[in-house]
Amino acid sequence: MTPCRPDWPYPTLIAHRGAGHHAPENTLAAMRMGAAQGFMMMEYDAKLSRDGVALLLHDDALDRTTNVSGNAADKTWAELAAVDAGSWHSAQYAGEPIPSLHAIAAFTRANHIHSNIEIKPHTGLDAETGKQIARLARNLWAGATLPPLLSSFSETALQAALDEAPELPRALLISKEVPTDWAKRLQRLECQGLNLNDQYTTRALVEEIRNAGYTVAVWTVNNRARAQELLDWGCNAIFTDEVQTILPADFV
Ligand code: G3P
Ligand code: CA
Repeated sequence: MTPCRPDWPYPTLIAHRGAGHHAPENTLAAMRMGAAQGFMMMEYDAKLSRDGVALLLHDDALDRTTNVSGNAADKTWAELAAVDAGSWHSAQYAGEPIPSLHAIAAFTRANHIHSNIEIKPHTGLDAETGKQIARLARNLWAGATLPPLLSSFSETALQAALDEAPELPRALLISKEVPTDWAKRLQRLECQGLNLNDQYTTRALVEEIRNAGYTVAVWTVNNRARAQELLDWGCNAIFTDEVQTILPADFV
């Protein structure tokens, strides 16, 4: 598919939440859809069940993307594995389960797909989640061609991931404006770069970060001209929901 950039060994295009618009986000169905669309890298959101099993879910609460209510952190893996995480998207995905990180590792590795695991802790569980997911990432991807890239909005989670598995690459997610002390934060967390919100990404900012030797990946870009512009500015990668819209451009 798209080539990699020299200081970014991963593919340039990353499927957001799997192919999370075309199939229920953060499920194996979304990963299968992304693979069928040609993506070679997937981003997905990982958190812990009450009994410490790592699973894929974006929100703290189950309400938006499953047929049950309440927070994932209050339920056991046995309870979570039984919910329907597909019907909310469309009837054809009725019964699609919430996947464990174990299942996603097996799928992505078998299909030679690279991973960006966004550590998405339930509120207040940042350190525990960062530690557990880094430990699992190290074990589940042992011997992989490229290790999963760990990212998080939570600096506490990234610090715990650094403490647990320093050899895994990390990126700091920024939700709005990039703080002026971004370089200090990256140095402290030993991160390779920033994953930025498209709405707050400017050419000057990209050049500043890239010139300092850090990577920039931008989410979520579903417009071809904008994706091309960001790559022309020197961004390393784009998270997208819409590969079929994005791909025909002459990237890089
Ligand atoms: O990792 C990039 C992006 O997924 C962060 O935002 O809300 O989609 O998890 P969100
Ligand atoms: Ca995410």
